[in-house]
Amino acid sequence: MTDKTNITLTINGHDHAIAVEPRRTLVDAIREDCGQTGTHIGCEHGICGACTVIVDGEPVRSCLMFAVQAAHKQIRTVEGLASGDTLHPMQQAFMDHHGLQCGFCTPGFLMLAVGVLERNPDISDDDLLDVLSSNLCRCTGYQGIIKAVRAAAIEMRK
Ligand code: FES
Ligand code: FES
Repeated sequence: MTDKTNITLTINGHDHAIAVEPRRTLVDAIREDCGQTGTHIGCEHGICGACTVIVDGEPVRSCLMFAVQAAHKQIRTVEGLASGDTLHPMQQAFMDHHGLQCGFCTPGFLMLAVGVLERNPDISDDDLLDVLSSNLCRCTGYQGIIKAVRAAAIEMRK
């Protein structure tokens, strides 16, 4: 059996002291060791984007990162987007523009879009489409997602 390493994951500003094997993925640690199940697991090998979280300001696929690599970094997940009862503009836009159906892909799309727009609020429409095409949705046909992210981009620039 592999020895475990003690690490602290800081998720949405809260510290979680956990012990993990070096090979434990960040998404497994977030969900199973820290109890934050809003981040979803789809393909588990970097294709679908369902597991996207923001680490030190950058969207990452948390199935492709080891938990030990995220120690001492600021991790943001979908649970941290809303402020109390007020949804983040991206969450509100997904509701308003039918950006979700089953919702499985939604946390990943939200974190991807928020992360990209925070880093580059004036991203061109072509680049935005390129970014969104990196995550997979089997339900919506993408049009609602694209509309939602465009609407949220306008709100987030205000
Ligand atoms: S579960 Fe990580 S990219 Fe699919
Ligand atoms: S809403 Fe079902 S996979 Fe995207």
